[in-house]
Amino acid sequence: MNQDELKKRVGHAALTHVPEGEVIGVGTGSTVNHFIEALATMKDRIRGAVSSSQASTARLQALGIPVFDCNDVEELAVYIDGADEIDPHGHMIKGGGAALTREKIVAAQSRRFVCIADESKRVATLGRFPLPVEVIPMASGRLIRQFADLGGVARLRLANGAPLVTDNGQHILDVTGLQIPDPLAFETRINLWPGVVEVGVFAQQRAAVCLLGTAQGVVTLTY
Ligand code: 5RP
Repeated sequence: MNQDELKKRVGHAALTHVPEGEVIGVGTGSTVNHFIEALATMKDRIRGAVSSSQASTARLQALGIPVFDCNDVEELAVYIDGADEIDPHGHMIKGGGAALTREKIVAAQSRRFVCIADESKRVATLGRFPLPVEVIPMASGRLIRQFADLGGVARLRLANGAPLVTDNGQHILDVTGLQIPDPLAFETRINLWPGVVEVGVFAQQRAAVCLLGTAQGVVTLTY
């Protein structure tokens, strides 16, 4: 079974975590795209979704699923999203799709985070995947030097030869060479650096459950 088939399996398995009659939080990425496709089959049994990106909003709306503004909804029962890495405690690296800030905002408004991922995303310690950090453009030069002081190499993410611009109008740095054994301390530290909009370590908003797609089937991990 290839990686996309594993993503599809967990995307569909996530329906069992969708409470009827509620507005749910929906993430971003290729795994979530499979979840959105599955969610459309029960769209008459939910009120709608709060979305973490313009891309997911467009997909949800195209399938007839109502999308609410974050500020028009109070607590969300569940947030369902993928990850670039997940460690044995449910801490994640996210932001491969450049949506990390909105993902963290929607996750923070949700009672529990259900992560959907194929088994390649499972790691012992965060840091193999280049860490995405959303930054205010005028701060990027200094932030690249601050990451170098930590032993990391930060590069500006490009799209079609120009800096990628996020849904929030900001830029993304991708940082390689870091090991993150204490994700909560790391997240807190980096988010204090002036010019950082959000770091792609999800420790405060870690997963409560991970549906992991493996060759043997979908495994449910709880943290
Ligand atoms: C987007 C994300 C995604 O959840 C993460 O990149 C995983 O993506 P995919 O499901 O395509 O492997 O954080 O910002």
